[in-house]
Amino acid sequence: MISIDKNLCNNCGICVAICPRRILRLGGESAAVTDQALCMVCGHCKAVCPNDAPGFTMGNEDFEPLSQKEKILSPSDFLHFIRRRRSIRQYKEEPIEKEKLAMTIQAGRYSPSGGNRQACEFTVISGRKILDEVCTLAIQQLLSEAQVIREIFDRHERFKEPIPEEYIARKVLPSVWERIGRAWEGGQDQLLFHAPSLIVIHLNEGSATTGVIDAGIASMNMIYMAETLGLGACYIAFLVWAVQGSKALQTFLKIPAGNRLHIAFTVGYPKVKYLRLVARRPAKITWLGDS
Ligand SMILES: Cc1cc2nc3c(=O)[nH]c(=O)nc-3n(C[C@H](O)[C@H](O)[C@H](O)COP(=O)(O)O)c2cc1C
Repeated sequence: MISIDKNLCNNCGICVAICPRRILRLGGESAAVTDQALCMVCGHCKAVCPNDAPGFTMGNEDFEPLSQKEKILSPSDFLHFIRRRRSIRQYKEEPIEKEKLAMTIQAGRYSPSGGNRQACEFTVISGRKILDEVCTLAIQQLLSEAQVIREIFDRHERFKEPIPEEYIARKVLPSVWERIGRAWEGGQDQLLFHAPSLIVIHLNEGSATTGVIDAGIASMNMIYMAETLGLGACYIAFLVWAVQGSKALQTFLKIPAGNRLHIAFTVGYPKVKYLRLVARRPAKITWLGDS
């Protein structure tokens, strides 16, 4: 719920102009809310008001004053920061301090989300005992999915049955997952890389219109935060698919009924030091208009 403090509002109209839902208007002694139900509590009105007149039912203390002299990262420093991040697949055994994990979650919490729905929920799984159980269940699931994929490609070879579109890019996965399964039997964790922690992001399907995108954005911010804390991370899509297909894993991870898991990443102190940045393909860009 948003309200405008009539005693503080000076009718300047800055909030009216910035409101993305167009639910503020001038005309009386102060700005007024025309449709509470449409407010997405994005807080733009409060963040620009010179008199701090708008207020919300909760969270007003989070609107800390922003210095106009504040320096942000230079573009080249920022690009360098982006380029130096790598997927870390070798971790020290050292556990991660809880404050660092909490700070990483904060970066997810402050991420943008469609309609400001803020539906992402975070589960942090730490310690090898529980992570080994996650690996066992996930690898079982991946191996059974590997069989399904193999059968689809076999039937295609033998009877020319069409390959469903979503399976085309999955051709190599059975051999990758079977390799991960063999390594696991030999004591090697090639799924979660013996990481000390795993973070997963899930959200209630009915509570967001842009769930996958929201979870993706939150996770990237979290991984950059982890980098600033001296940690490294690696996205694990294989675990996401395993959880999506396995009730046993959903129960084990205490994912609430109705929630869908979209993101998983390992996190820990990197064992490896990178000495060079990375190359990427040139960007495919289409410039339209006056650019
Ligand atoms: C959505 C997504 C899913 C990924 N899933 C996995 C995975 O299951 N296992 C893995 O080892 N790496 C995974 N990765 C890491 C990619 O292989 C990696 O980002 C890519 O090779 C580029 O390397 P870099 O991250 O070190 O720059 C994933 C990356 C993304 C963005």
